[in-house]
Amino acid sequence: MKPFAVALLAAASLLLGSGCKDDSNKKSNANEIVVGEYASMTGATATFGQSSHKGAVMAMEEINKEGLLGGKKIRLVTEDNRSDANEAVTAVQKLISRDRVVAVLGEVASKRSLAGGGVCQKAKIPMISPASTNPTVTAVGDYVFRICFTDDFQGMVDAQFAIKELPDIGKKPWKKAAVFTDVANDYSKGLSKAFRETYPKNGGQIVAEETYRESDNDFKAQLSKIKSADPDAVFVSGYYTDVGKILRQARELQLNVPFFGGDGWDSPQTLQLGPIADNCFYTDHYSADDPRPEVREFIKRFQARWGETPDAMAILGYDAMGVLADAIKRAGKAEPQAIRDALATTKDYPGASGTITMDANRNARKPIVVVRIHGGKGSRADAIAPQ
Ligand code: PHE
Repeated sequence: MKPFAVALLAAASLLLGSGCKDDSNKKSNANEIVVGEYASMTGATATFGQSSHKGAVMAMEEINKEGLLGGKKIRLVTEDNRSDANEAVTAVQKLISRDRVVAVLGEVASKRSLAGGGVCQKAKIPMISPASTNPTVTAVGDYVFRICFTDDFQGMVDAQFAIKELPDIGKKPWKKAAVFTDVANDYSKGLSKAFRETYPKNGGQIVAEETYRESDNDFKAQLSKIKSADPDAVFVSGYYTDVGKILRQARELQLNVPFFGGDGWDSPQTLQLGPIADNCFYTDHYSADDPRPEVREFIKRFQARWGETPDAMAILGYDAMGVLADAIKRAGKAEPQAIRDALATTKDYPGASGTITMDANRNARKPIVVVRIHGGKGSRADAIAPQ
């Protein structure tokens, strides 16, 4: 080999560095638009990240059939944050400085969106959370968007549903409720707060308030206190990972009233809890028995692609990528600032999860469904229009 060629090769290998073996480190080329995603692919709430990721990938594949901006393809670079907020910060930093992404999708959990959102805001890279509902997430700054409703609305709907009478499904008004909050989780704290603010206004009375932390395993002390307050129902504002443990221990203590919660309950694992979860309810972004043709069509395509029925994170992950691609098209260029400005004017985007319009605070107003668990299945018990 000529010395010149050797030098060239050496320089090239220096440039590429050691971390360049995997595909994600490929330098971007003119024919692609590099989009980052940070998600909990592993760890405690892995179904959140796995589902939103499947939705985003499927949307990307559909968009790439035609391409964007005259045939460019989206390349998605996914970083696993292992269900951890500190890891979320590192993941987003990598996506921005190493992969030079023009926009970021993520996260599902509000705590991790708050962490990653700070990084995006500082770097002026637009971020779209598919499913984080805590009100403070988009308050991080003008580069942070979401395509779902917020917990002010969700907590209010939970409080209104609690006192509703639904004779068809044998539901009586729950006039006395206990509130059980995960104080290590921003989402849970915010949702309980919104519930607390509206339930009494609707004639409900909170007879017990207990707390736990997400990694706890023993809830018996709190559940015993809740039981002695004799509530008609128990509001658990945390994630599915704890709901299962809590329900099991509640039933062991003969605390047999209905439990209910928010979108954090959504996971195939919740439906698999069996009879202990019968006639429990949760509010959500979507239910698989939605009769709207666009939802039926989406479910069919998702099943064909992934061999499973999508949950809320999957449909929202799909729409997050769709909204981003729509903004890139309208911006006419794949540059962070232009994409941000286009995202801010998203109006009547026809998402699979519903129509998406960004309000002045970068939030979307969407309808909520109340899912009833029975016989190992979730079905729509109620639907509430946006505020
Ligand atoms: N809304 C939850 C949060 O903000 C995340 C979530 C969304 C969980 C949808 C399940 C389904 O933390």
